[in-house]
Amino acid sequence: MFLGLDLGTSGLRALLVDSGGAVIGWSEASCSVSHPHSGWSEQDPADWIAACETCLAALQGSYPTELAALSGIGLSGHMHGATLLDADFNVLRPCMLWNDTRSTPQAAELDAAEHVRELSGNIVFPGFTAPKVAWVAKHEPDIFAQIAKVLLPKDYLRFWLTGGDVSDMSDAAGTAWLDVGARDWSPELLNASDMRADQMPTLVEGTAPAGHLRRELQEKWGISNTVIVAGGAGDNAAAACGVGCFQDGDGFVSLGTSGVLLAAKDRFAPDPATAVHTFCHAVPDTWYQMGVILAATDCLNWLAEVLNARPADLANALPDTISGPSRLLFLPYLSGERTPHNDSAIRGSFIGLDVTTTPLDMTQAVMEGVAFALADCHDALKATGTKFERLLAIGGGTKSDFWVQTLASVLNIQIDIPAQGEFGAALGAARLAMAAQPGADLAAIMTKPEIARTVAPRADLVADYARAHDTYRALYPNLKAALGQ
Ligand code: XUL
Repeated sequence: MFLGLDLGTSGLRALLVDSGGAVIGWSEASCSVSHPHSGWSEQDPADWIAACETCLAALQGSYPTELAALSGIGLSGHMHGATLLDADFNVLRPCMLWNDTRSTPQAAELDAAEHVRELSGNIVFPGFTAPKVAWVAKHEPDIFAQIAKVLLPKDYLRFWLTGGDVSDMSDAAGTAWLDVGARDWSPELLNASDMRADQMPTLVEGTAPAGHLRRELQEKWGISNTVIVAGGAGDNAAAACGVGCFQDGDGFVSLGTSGVLLAAKDRFAPDPATAVHTFCHAVPDTWYQMGVILAATDCLNWLAEVLNARPADLANALPDTISGPSRLLFLPYLSGERTPHNDSAIRGSFIGLDVTTTPLDMTQAVMEGVAFALADCHDALKATGTKFERLLAIGGGTKSDFWVQTLASVLNIQIDIPAQGEFGAALGAARLAMAAQPGADLAAIMTKPEIARTVAPRADLVADYARAHDTYRALYPNLKAALGQ
């Protein structure tokens, strides 16, 4: 038996799979995010541990025999978060998350430093780890002085599970401290943000063993074997493992809290000028590129909150099939934007509200706005030479057929929905746990998924959505000007 633990922004999912990779069962526990100021986004690492305890207790209750036979754990987590620890491994402050943009000035400064883009393969976005720590150095110097270790969110969970401080290449690639081509910490990048190699965790590949489950937890959860904890991956690389996305030309679109359009690469071919991200994949000698939007299902969650409704009810109220773009436009920049704008100060907007506008119209516009933002990512990836024949779609948003149909027609591409796409990164994490066992056969583990259904672009509507996307794209500079930037 293997366990995939996926630490998502909205909660933790624990997925139990058998030695053939088939799903046995799962449990979930939610985590909240606090936004003390506009652009700030934080979580208390203690909540991740509490969520893990809740999930494991639930699995122990429902699947005690299966859990007792556990051999491996794989971890996946939201990327970039800075978990700052003192010399006794105490957490120094709340973790600043991937969509926290307070460190915009520090990111711009690091981004302009010599060799930084070249070595890290990326723009230094404000959400990345290095600028966050630079923000702490400037605004919380007492805390900065006590930093003995910086761990990414899933690596802090690993520290609690195993007692060791280890990270994997795919997650480390989002810190702006990793030489992404060489797959090692870069002394030059560390130096650029006044950090030292001893403050970094040990690095392993995602498929390599990275410690053993502490005996105390093993006994608590009634597990008989020694449990290997694998390197694991950042959530997007883990999701790619879950759907067997490794070959050049393989790609997926993810409708999670953030939105991602990811393309697997068999070599390191960065193109930071396009605001496309280039990171190490979770298996050795592979990389991937992606466009990232900071709010995808987060936009629907926000709308649901202001309308005092449930996101699923809003989505389910839409018709079964699309019939062309709404006259209402929505720009989904609720947390600023990464690809293609690298603009942390931009904010969202509805354009075209009138007295007849209903919650249904707003829901449709939100889904279309997210699809247009992902089309911008598609254009950015195309500019790097990436071409998709078709795409897989994963993440909570794919439960809405309306949203997937919209996306297929806006991107003008066939979209396949995997049968178990909802397990995404948790399944990838479980697969990484299998890969870390002695003698594991990667090709047999990281297979492509069974496809539940395929959604084709609506040929009769593609031109209408393309026109609406043009209008959407033209609004960005005006919105920027209206916000006084
Ligand atoms: C990727 C990114 C997000 C987070 C949260 O660069 O910031 O996708 O990993 O899911």
